[in-house]
Amino acid sequence: MKAREIGQIVKVRRPELDRGRRLVANCHDINDLRRWAKRALPRGVFDYLEGGADEETTTRDNISAFRQWQFHPSALADVAGAHTDVEFLGRSLPLPLALAPTGYSRMMHPLGEVAVARAAAAAGVPYTLSTVATSSVEDVAAAMKSASDDPMLWMQLYLFRDREQSWRLLERAWAAGASVLEFSVDTAVAGRRVRDQRNGFTIPPSLTPLTVLEMGLHTRYWTSMVRSPALAFANFQGDGDSTIASITSQFDSSLTWDDVRAVRDKWPGRLSVKGPLSPDDARRALDAGVDIVHLSNHGGRQLDRCVPTIDLVAPVREAIGSAPLIIDSGVRHGMDIAIAIALGADLVAVGRPYLYGLAAAGEVGVSHSISLLQSQLLRTLQLVGVTSVAELRERGSELVRRAEGRIDD
Ligand SMILES: Cc1cc2nc3c(=O)[nH]c(=O)nc-3n(C[C@H](O)[C@H](O)[C@H](O)COP(=O)(O)O)c2cc1C
Repeated sequence: MKAREIGQIVKVRRPELDRGRRLVANCHDINDLRRWAKRALPRGVFDYLEGGADEETTTRDNISAFRQWQFHPSALADVAGAHTDVEFLGRSLPLPLALAPTGYSRMMHPLGEVAVARAAAAAGVPYTLSTVATSSVEDVAAAMKSASDDPMLWMQLYLFRDREQSWRLLERAWAAGASVLEFSVDTAVAGRRVRDQRNGFTIPPSLTPLTVLEMGLHTRYWTSMVRSPALAFANFQGDGDSTIASITSQFDSSLTWDDVRAVRDKWPGRLSVKGPLSPDDARRALDAGVDIVHLSNHGGRQLDRCVPTIDLVAPVREAIGSAPLIIDSGVRHGMDIAIAIALGADLVAVGRPYLYGLAAAGEVGVSHSISLLQSQLLRTLQLVGVTSVAELRERGSELVRRAEGRIDD
């Protein structure tokens, strides 16, 4: 057969030269990105990203709980003009999504938080920088401004015993343009990550025979790490070192609602509490002057055997009236976003899904994770028979209901 004849029966595709773009072109859902992340990262780093606390029951339940809810679609609803745009805090977003704070992102990819921030800004969704980020809030703000005229930078706070450092962080974040502060209240003590203990995982990595073996297995990863600045906290001094042990030893187990009020007094922007899990706590948060309730069980990385957040959306919505409500933990698909919205959430946040993208392909991978979730959400809206997220929310109880009897994954 001649080349010209072959050309008549197959579609010739131009090869993609950029490695990241080539890779994401073959990722059709978040699980595909996850598989590439697993290949790209040394075992200990992937386990740090992926793992949950103790028996990891909550991490698994977070994902399966979404699958206990089912759509009851309307047919022939003229969904030709459907879109995923929403309004949140007076801003227009292309979909109801935020990127949740995740620590040590430069461990997943040399550009870490800067790559995530640029992708979020380009997509028009908020990015929350973690207190234990490995890029400074000033660098992240600049990266976001280079990708968008009006980016949405949010800052996450772990309130450590050294309050002065925490207040200085708030001043820096506000000066850099952060508009929302997310105060994490689910970390009285650090969750016990058994995978990390088994792997002897440390930050920075310890040199052991296993690390040397790993270096041989993941040369691309280690070469890029060796060429990048050493991992260090960029917004917080810790007690002089950058290890997980050092940071978790700074957690303040004596925090109470008075501390939420103290943070409220210090922060001039919008305040969210990330991690309350009951309708009562959500109400208490509003009483303490909080603007946004962020339902989260930390992706199952703190308290194990903990209630999945999706099951709390409806009761918390009932408790807080029309106050802004964010939910995270277990979202892996646009269908999950649709379910959360139908049950009463305003915005859905993700942690691992964009980290898979980051580890697999850097900024392009993060952008791909966002566009996958958006296209999945759009298709879901159309197949459910609504034309907007607002309509889904309004008709939520009719269109999404809990399955009768338990569905096994
Ligand atoms: C690797 C990793 C690091 C995280 N670091 C932080 C952090 O520094 N601060 C915080 O409030 N939450 C942190 N989280 C929790 C996320 O903000 C979010 O609540 C969680 O990832 C949501 O669950 P999902 O991963 O199933 O989307 C982290 C999560 C992961 C996976």
